[in-house]
Amino acid sequence: MTDKLKSLLPENLNEPKSHAELMRHKSLTQKAFPHVRMRRLRRTDALRDMVRENSLSVNDLIYPLFVEEELDTPAPINSMPGVMRETEKSLEAKMKEVAKSGLKSVMLFGVSHHKDHTGSDSMNPNGLMARMIDRAKQAAPEVMVIADACFCEYTDHGHCGPINTMGDVDNDRTIENIAMQAVTAAEAGADMIAPSGMMDGQISAIRHALDVTGFTHIPIMAYAAKFASVFYGPFRDAAGCSLGQNDNVPTHRKSYQMDPANGREAIRDALLDEEEGADILMVKPGMPYLDVLSQLRQKSDLPLAAYQVSGEYAMIRFAAEAGALDYKEAMMESLTCFKRAGADLILTYSALDTAHWLENS
Ligand code: PBG
Repeated sequence: MTDKLKSLLPENLNEPKSHAELMRHKSLTQKAFPHVRMRRLRRTDALRDMVRENSLSVNDLIYPLFVEEELDTPAPINSMPGVMRETEKSLEAKMKEVAKSGLKSVMLFGVSHHKDHTGSDSMNPNGLMARMIDRAKQAAPEVMVIADACFCEYTDHGHCGPINTMGDVDNDRTIENIAMQAVTAAEAGADMIAPSGMMDGQISAIRHALDVTGFTHIPIMAYAAKFASVFYGPFRDAAGCSLGQNDNVPTHRKSYQMDPANGREAIRDALLDEEEGADILMVKPGMPYLDVLSQLRQKSDLPLAAYQVSGEYAMIRFAAEAGALDYKEAMMESLTCFKRAGADLILTYSALDTAHWLENS
């Protein structure tokens, strides 16, 4: 065998004995050497950094916060490790911490002690919703405050609007009320309104109400494709808006939130919100609905948000507490995958932790 032929052979192969054997060997081994090697660009940190398609920034994150009235000290939420219900007072320190972390926005959820059939406290300029928005803005004016516009945290039956004679949420009364709620929130200083009730026509109603009251500059982030999901369970504990305490109302929200089985309908519903004047479209929950997010990315040029909901956060935290996953790694992977699927913005209860990780990375 010539040296030239020998040099064609990988070192670890047994040396063929004859020329014929060598040729056979060569043809076999040549097939085994891939021409395109995906691993070439995966070899070092520098290469991986160079070709990374998506990355996470503190600018992408929206931090949901719970604020409970008539509470003396911040209270932990058992189903969401690491998340607290803030008091109206402790919200101030929290907002300052948020500003320091570099986060640009929070979404506020009220835990009401003044519930009634319509959720009227949230339309009252002195009610919890208005007070917490005002307090948050006073504490950290540079942080955007997004108002979750919905009634379920303020109604005594836990639904997202008043109940009609058929025992269902009254769509058109709800959108009249939500227009008033949105204006109350804007007057209190909210920088953005995020209606989450899945009522038909709510985006038009809010846009109109904001426009005629001088809030033409306030954007609307629509919970555009919001599914009737079991993954909201921990949130409902946290916000005290579980259903089923009242016998006369449905124990689920399936007549307004979407069926998890429906993808085409989600796109249709989201595009309707775009037509009605939404500035940002949200898909919620996040992880089990990345296909919806990705399809919506193809259909709309609006900024898209994904909500990593309470149950998704809880799954990662409890798995980490049990030693099955690393909290930081699991969270960073999940959030990055939202970006890959098409999200520009992500709502996550890990926002403060993630802001610190990003700062130190
Ligand atoms: C209010 C609202 C809910 C969530 C956000 N806004 C509860 C619901 O629709 O039942 C869920 C958030 C979460 O689970 O993290 N309509």
